[in-house]
Amino acid sequence: MGISWFYVVAILLFITNAATLCRGGITSSYVRKVESSEDMPLDSDVFRVPHGYNAPQQVHLTQGDHVGKGVIVSWVTMDEPGSNKVLYWEANSKIKQIAKGTVSTYRYHTYNSGYIHHCTIQNLKYNTKYYYMVGTGHSRRTFWFVTPPPVGPDASYTFGLIGDLGQTYDSNMTLTHYEMNPNQGQTVLFVGDLSYADKYPNHDNNRWDTWGRFVERSNAYQPWIWTAGNHDVDFAPEIGEPEPFKPYTKRYPVPYQASGSTSPLWYSIKRASAYIIVLSTYSATSKYTPQYRWLEAELKKVNRKETPWLIVLMHCPWYNSYGYHYMEGETMRVIYEPWFVKYKVDMVFAGHVHAYERSKRISNIDYKIVSGECTPANNQSAPVYITVGDGGNIEGLTTKMTEPQPKYSAYRESSFGHAILEIKNRTHAYYSWHRNQDGFSAKADSFLFFNRYWHPVDESY
Ligand SMILES: *[C@@H]1O[C@H](CO)[C@@H](O)[C@H](O)[C@H]1NC(C)=O
Ligand SMILES: *[C@@H]1O[C@H](CO)[C@@H](O)[C@H](O)[C@H]1NC(C)=O
Ligand SMILES: *[C@@H]1O[C@H](CO)[C@@H](O)[C@H](O)[C@H]1NC(C)=O
Ligand SMILES: [Fe+2]
Repeated sequence: MGISWFYVVAILLFITNAATLCRGGITSSYVRKVESSEDMPLDSDVFRVPHGYNAPQQVHLTQGDHVGKGVIVSWVTMDEPGSNKVLYWEANSKIKQIAKGTVSTYRYHTYNSGYIHHCTIQNLKYNTKYYYMVGTGHSRRTFWFVTPPPVGPDASYTFGLIGDLGQTYDSNMTLTHYEMNPNQGQTVLFVGDLSYADKYPNHDNNRWDTWGRFVERSNAYQPWIWTAGNHDVDFAPEIGEPEPFKPYTKRYPVPYQASGSTSPLWYSIKRASAYIIVLSTYSATSKYTPQYRWLEAELKKVNRKETPWLIVLMHCPWYNSYGYHYMEGETMRVIYEPWFVKYKVDMVFAGHVHAYERSKRISNIDYKIVSGECTPANNQSAPVYITVGDGGNIEGLTTKMTEPQPKYSAYRESSFGHAILEIKNRTHAYYSWHRNQDGFSAKADSFLFFNRYWHPVDESY
């Protein structure tokens, strides 16, 4: 009896191993309720307009320079332009300083925006808590933020990762889980598709305003680093709106000139020990285009002795084994992937697919039409590709997967959630993904990143 039991176990083990060898990694067996995600109604608590005449609303922050000593403060006033000024002071100081910003409006079809304010504060101290105040009189509002440590190889820092957020009940759950995570990030890397206003008739831009009010509770206190997604294009010539990215660029400025970029849709920042490159999958990427030429020059500038962690953000993933948006990133991959391997990018974060997936370190740069060699190969110089398009927007979850799971896919699951990247020092970074159905600290997937420059060998899958 003992012997037959042994055989059963041996055969079972063999079958399991064979399955994992010729197929990919793990497709989560987690079973979730699949319901369509509904946008929160306009009178929801998260969209409440702050009290007071002309009170600043939709207050949000992003990095304001190349190295993390600057911050851009943005807000909207509805009744009149009001004050352009931001008053700010160090947490333990009485000396108040003033920075002056700009105000603008835009029109989209029949929608007229409020007064959109942007104010860049430069030359802040690193590692310092600041309070800041916007608005005047009884409508003044005060918030705070903490600047990052100086750029350097061992500066530890924690990033949150959120994508395709939208403004549904699920979006609210994702944001709440991010905020309640005991390892909540100090800055969010947002991989595109913000408000999904374009799902409404004539791209009802009031939904850009509600979105700004919804995320203010996080974004007024920590910078979100923006990436443009397809729902941020708002290209609608049929209603007289032929200018791509109009609402997005009017509302969400980024410090693109600081990295020599000619467009807010692609740029880079340094933050602590990370060098973050943001790309636009909805702009021209071909050889000789502005984005191509910028990226070609940009990658040469990255000094891994100063910023060991090379992170790329883009909206559309290159490696995606779901049935939806399958191979949409292929044209861009063919052009840029050799650089990512050559320059040893540590990780590439994308969204777009409304689910979660993490790849192995793989490269498909040997692919040639003539050779027909089209199987991604394991390559320790290649990035890990992670899709976190699982913020929870109105389009719902992507559940259809290509079968069998490709070898390059290490873990995939169609659940909403967020991820956390904890950079410890030049060699180690802990990464975890948290599905909304679990407790705030539960990790559904995790991975220990060894830096490609400082620790190029060994990686346990
Ligand atoms: C959104 O989440 C917050 C925090 O959990 C909660 O207080 C609020 O009531 C939620 N709003 C909606 C409309 O679900
Ligand atoms: C990774 O790809 C590069 C570029 O093709 C190649 O030179 C290198 O040998 C590959 N490394 C491994 C470990 O396969
Ligand atoms: C880097 O961080 C990891 C994880 O916390 C730790 O094990 C390792 O010793 C650190 N390395 C150095 C050089 O401090
Ligand atoms: Fe998308």
